[in-house]
Amino acid sequence: MKKIALMFACVAFSLALAGTALAKPIVIYFSMPETDKAEGMTQAEDDSTVVIDGKVLGNVQYAAQVIQSNTASDIFRIEPLTPYTTNHKELIALARTEQRRKVRPELKSDIDLSEYNVIFLGYPIWWTDLPMVVYTFLEAHDMSGKTIIPFIVHGGSGAAGTPGKIARVQPNAKVFTNALSIYRDNMQDSKPVIVRWLEGLNYTR
Ligand SMILES: Cc1cc2nc3c(=O)[nH]c(=O)nc-3n(C[C@H](O)[C@H](O)[C@H](O)COP(=O)(O)O)c2cc1C
Repeated sequence: MKKIALMFACVAFSLALAGTALAKPIVIYFSMPETDKAEGMTQAEDDSTVVIDGKVLGNVQYAAQVIQSNTASDIFRIEPLTPYTTNHKELIALARTEQRRKVRPELKSDIDLSEYNVIFLGYPIWWTDLPMVVYTFLEAHDMSGKTIIPFIVHGGSGAAGTPGKIARVQPNAKVFTNALSIYRDNMQDSKPVIVRWLEGLNYTR
């Protein structure tokens, strides 16, 4: 009887270890670059993008890539089923309407989060809030027991209390208040800042 109990204990212990080894971080982000052309950008297009090695990336998209490559995480991009307009004025108005009406835009695709215990969640500040499509994603998942580490790019508002808003949607997740918050004009030179932040969290690999 004792032998069987011991055997079960060993199996349980190995499974627990395997679980730890499999537990991977993932970078999940939403980003809305308003152009993909490096030349002749309008101010609004320039504000929403960063050009790295000749490639036009959204600001949050770039931060997501830096985090992914420095943490060996998986990566997933949140996208609405109906793409947002790249016309800046229309985008600003649409985002405001979505916020006022608490719209939850349908997702283009989703992901199973069961194998992940740490989620780096990246988004731009829209109208001093998370973009509504990020709420769609957050509300579609139960992140109980997982750690959510927000990273944010903004045009002057800072994090705008958004980590607290994430915590309200996911009350049983551990939401890091030590979020990374980058001003969009500082994107070009942000890589070392992001890496230092990750080191501070003990998350570089
Ligand atoms: C619809 C919309 C609303 C925005 N609202 C704010 C805001 O309230 N506060 C702020 O600091 N920046 C605001 N911004 C600026 C973005 O947060 C900033 O440009 C960010 O870098 C965009 O990141 P992305 O290129 O990865 O989408 C807004 C941008 C858009 C398009």
